[in-house]
This record gives sequence, structure tokens and C-alpha cells, in this order.
Amino acid sequence: MTPFEWDPTLETGDLVVDRQHMTIHRLFNQLECAADNPAEIMRVLDYLSEYVLMHFATEEDLMAREGFPEAAIDSHMAEHRKLTEGVRVKVLEFRRGELTSTAPVLEFLRDWLKTHVHECDRELVVHVRGRGAYARVPEPWASCPPKL
Ligand SMILES: [Fe+2]
Ligand SMILES: [Fe+2]
Repeated sequence: MTPFEWDPTLETGDLVVDRQHMTIHRLFNQLECAADNPAEIMRVLDYLSEYVLMHFATEEDLMAREGFPEAAIDSHMAEHRKLTEGVRVKVLEFRRGELTSTAPVLEFLRDWLKTHVHECDRELVVHVRGRGAYARVPEPWASCPPKL
């Protein structure tokens, strides 16, 4: 599978949120590389399901802090809840051996990266950058995030 490339136009300028998005990309690519290794998939999935909870909370704080419109916060948060539940269900199905391959998990996560991070989160990026707080993530992080 082609790795999911980090797109610098997704940077909000909030270094914590941006680094978290980079890490989520890296975790997804690790999962794809581990497609034939169920133990490694489980390890990364467990980590990812906790990591996204922290990420969603951080992103929701940023929305509140940067005055993202309330209606947009509500619908974005509802989307976060839906994704959290979706990951949880996939982890349980995988753990119970109900999935015969890793394809449905990877497909779910690829869709999430594409439609949530690359589309929904972009609305927040535009909003935060519009407030003038944008700063690029330092290069060593952008090009080489630390391994788990
Ligand atoms: Fe996000
Ligand atoms: Fe989000």
C-alpha cells in the first residue's frame, strides 16, 4: 500500500495538534506495514485507540481556545465520538477474531484519515491560520517523528 503522506497544508500552527496528526499518519502507515502480523496490528491498534482519545481532546481544546464557531464545534465533536466508537468496534472485532483479514480495519482508518483529518480538520486549520497564529512545525519533527 502507498503510505499516507503528511500534507503540510494540514498544519494548524498549533504544534501539539500538528505533531499529533503526524503521529496518527505514522501509526496508520505502521499498521499497513504490519498487515501480515496480527500481534503487531493489535499492539499498534491498542496504542492508536488511546492516542486518538487524547488527540480529540487536544483538538477540541484548540477549537474552544481559538473561537471556532459553536455549531462547527458541536458537529466536529459528534464526528470525533463517532470515530472513537468506530475504532473501538474494529479493535473488538479484530480481538475476537471476527475479521478474517486486516483489510476492513485499514479501510476504516484510511477513510477516517481522508475524510476527517484531511477534510473536516482542514476547516479548523483554515480558521486557526486565519487568526494569524500559524507557525511551521520544526523540520526534524516534520521529516522524522520519533519511533514508538
Ligand atoms: Fe484531528
Ligand atoms: Fe478532528
